[in-house]
Amino acid sequence: MIRANETLLVTGGAGFIGSNFVLSWVKAGGRVVNLDLLTYAGNALNLAPLEGDDRYTFVRGDICDAELVNSLLRRYQPRAIVHFAAESHVDRSIVAPDAFIRTNVQGTFVLLEQARLYRQELGEAYRAMFRFLHVSTDEVYGSLAADDPAFCETTPYAPNSPYSASKAGSNHLVRAYFHTYRLPVLTTNCSNNYGPYQFPEKLIPLMILNALEGKPLPVYGDGKNVRDWLYVEDHCAAIRAVLENGRPGETYNIGGSSERANIDVVTAICDLVDEMGPALGAAPRRGLITYVQDRPGHDRRYAMDASKVSGELGWRPVEAFESGLRKTVRWYLEHGEWVNSVRTGAYREWIEKNYAERAEYRQQGTGNRT
Ligand code: NAD
Ligand code: TYD
Repeated sequence: MIRANETLLVTGGAGFIGSNFVLSWVKAGGRVVNLDLLTYAGNALNLAPLEGDDRYTFVRGDICDAELVNSLLRRYQPRAIVHFAAESHVDRSIVAPDAFIRTNVQGTFVLLEQARLYRQELGEAYRAMFRFLHVSTDEVYGSLAADDPAFCETTPYAPNSPYSASKAGSNHLVRAYFHTYRLPVLTTNCSNNYGPYQFPEKLIPLMILNALEGKPLPVYGDGKNVRDWLYVEDHCAAIRAVLENGRPGETYNIGGSSERANIDVVTAICDLVDEMGPALGAAPRRGLITYVQDRPGHDRRYAMDASKVSGELGWRPVEAFESGLRKTVRWYLEHGEWVNSVRTGAYREWIEKNYAERAEYRQQGTGNRT
């Protein structure tokens, strides 16, 4: 249960998962101070429903700014930090890793250090209540073969992209602050999320929007890479459960038990957009699927064993992948204004950059297997 009016300092609350979390937390009666730099991935419009609500405070700023973080902690005296802020897109981490190291590693360090100093000044009761919840990813564990068991909390780390390496580094720092300073940290490693407000550079929203507009659907490699998908509201519920009853110093793996090959996700999206969107001539949208050059170091399969969080905290996902995907397609069809607001010039530049080389590969005739 949420304690009335308790304040959380949320970082990255204007991004995809963070905004879903903030909306649900405030709706349930909680208070939030949201520290977000509003990079390309952050969008204040996601939190428009909270405009004028005195339970919600927005601060535009950088998690690497120690002075700012220190002043926010002292001013708002949160009972927890819930840390979402990150650079989160694997393809961008391959093209330009610097920002990933800065935000994901240095930024997490700044937050931990300021949290440690702040907590020292709290009275005993508040010190006991304080939590630092670090939102992380299954990608720290690396890649699974088809018949390997799912990742559990003790699986050794084996990150393969600058993104996952930077998240693994941040997880290690969080762990170290527990063992060295007894900062009451909690880490959640979650599988791929999908749902409303996801920036359309990630697989599901990119494919929905391209399918809607009759553009090619660029599937990397052979399309048989497998991801475990979790509806974003289920992830937010898991975070609330861990925040409330998770044991300090522990890690909780969170997943949807919904492993799907990318090609199956994309064909399902084609069929849903055919059904719910405007017709695209007589041709089914599956014809837009185009195999393109693979991502370097592309992890083959992720799968999560979420038995710890379900056994200890009673959390289970409630949304099935098929119904969640249907809801998500509907959301993007109904939120054209939001879509237009995030597809800025910088977005178009990124899409051009990421897919131009892959298109060349296709033209050479080695990649197009449709
Ligand atoms: P996102 O990219 O949609 O949002 C990131 C947010 O962080 C944005 O609002 C951005 O403006 C903000 N931000 C970036 N750098 C910042 C900085 N230096 N200071 C302050 N704010 C900054 O990310 P997301 O998909 O919502 O992911 C949130 C967290 O969950 C990340 O830590 C990510 O690693 C983790 N995660 C994501 C997924 C997924 O499928 N999306 C799965 C597991 C874990
Ligand atoms: P993504 O949404 O980038 O998440 P992550 O890499 O963190 O799992 O990609 C999900 C899967 O979809 C991944 O296997 C890469 C693949 N993919 C494509 O095939 N085409 C695309 O255009 C994108 C963005 C991803």
